[in-house]
Amino acid sequence: LVVPVVLSGGGGSRLWPYSTKQTPKQFLPLVGDRTLYEQALDRVRDARSFTAPVVVGSMDHAEFCEAGLAAYGKEARVILEPIARNTAAAIIMAAIVVRDLHGEDAVLLVMPSDHVIDDVEEFHRAIRSGEAAARAGRLVTFGIRPSSADAGYGYLQTGNEVPGAPGVRDVARFVEKPQVDVAEAMVAGGDYLWNAGIFLFSASTLLDEAARTCPAIAEAASMAIAASQTDGIRLMPDADSLASCPSESIDYAVMELSSRVATVPMAPGWSDVGSWDALVEIIGNGRETGPVTAVDCENCYIRSEAVEIAALGLRDLIVVSAGSKLLILPRGRSQEVKGLLAAMDLKV
Ligand code: GDD
Ligand code: MG
Repeated sequence: LVVPVVLSGGGGSRLWPYSTKQTPKQFLPLVGDRTLYEQALDRVRDARSFTAPVVVGSMDHAEFCEAGLAAYGKEARVILEPIARNTAAAIIMAAIVVRDLHGEDAVLLVMPSDHVIDDVEEFHRAIRSGEAAARAGRLVTFGIRPSSADAGYGYLQTGNEVPGAPGVRDVARFVEKPQVDVAEAMVAGGDYLWNAGIFLFSASTLLDEAARTCPAIAEAASMAIAASQTDGIRLMPDADSLASCPSESIDYAVMELSSRVATVPMAPGWSDVGSWDALVEIIGNGRETGPVTAVDCENCYIRSEAVEIAALGLRDLIVVSAGSKLLILPRGRSQEVKGLLAAMDLKV
């Protein structure tokens, strides 16, 4: 069995004003009528393949995290971070908890809680393909054929097939969030895949590699778990230990520095719902959601929760309203919303 680990501590600020600090995007029904977090759990619910999940999220969102776990009884775990220290610390803490629960050979499937995956069968096939390599000491990633030179992703340079692991390829280089010109060259070269941000490895492999590539994070995470408080399925890492922990993503802290990375290419209709433009790609152009009347609007996405919006003759715009907030921007620039929020100096 594989142990699902669901990361749900991100802020999702680029999807403001729907996504807010109080309710970040993973806890919203952005696509379909279940939240992205519920959809992530649904994907790994099959008890023939998966144990109960371990969720790592923010103390501020304890209720959202735990609501998803009610069905598992005492088997699930939720690690509630008093402060966010990015994915390296979150994943290392999860690996320690899984090792203590299931042993050091247990294999973890680490998944973000804010992705859309259409073809769950194909996703499960990819997991089965990667399992032997994970048990043999590899850090298995999942590779997506790039459809653009998006600088917001990690890139995997694929090498030869791993002996004894059909469908798994060596990763010669892992490049996290390259400059756009570098990303363009990699996409043009043809041998790079996007890193889906989903990982499969044994607890011991991850903990051994992290001790080597990011010892300060590994140590602080280990102290945070050793001094944690538990209450039923809840585990609250020690805040002082986390405060001393460097904040880095697993991609920079481990994956770029390890020579044990491998990848399973997959095509499950994967999408990182990272921005309004990405969301529009998923749900389709020219769509309106909520009380919106749009006449003669082209290539726009207009979404409203409560405010009645009437739009006339708009081109290439994203218009989103939630509560008393309104966001308007041209299509193609939604990666910049994070910077826009900083400029507003808003407490969102
Ligand atoms: N528990 C916890 N604590 N979770 C966190 C934290 C944290 O401090 N920070 C982020 N997360 C969660 C987010 O909620 C998300 O589900 C997941 O971890 C990944 O974090 P992101 O911040 O969304 O990463 P990214 O999208 O910039 O980059 C990663 O994903 C890309 C694909 O979507 C990288 O792995 C890239 O290489 C990859 O291409
Ligand atoms: Mg992301």
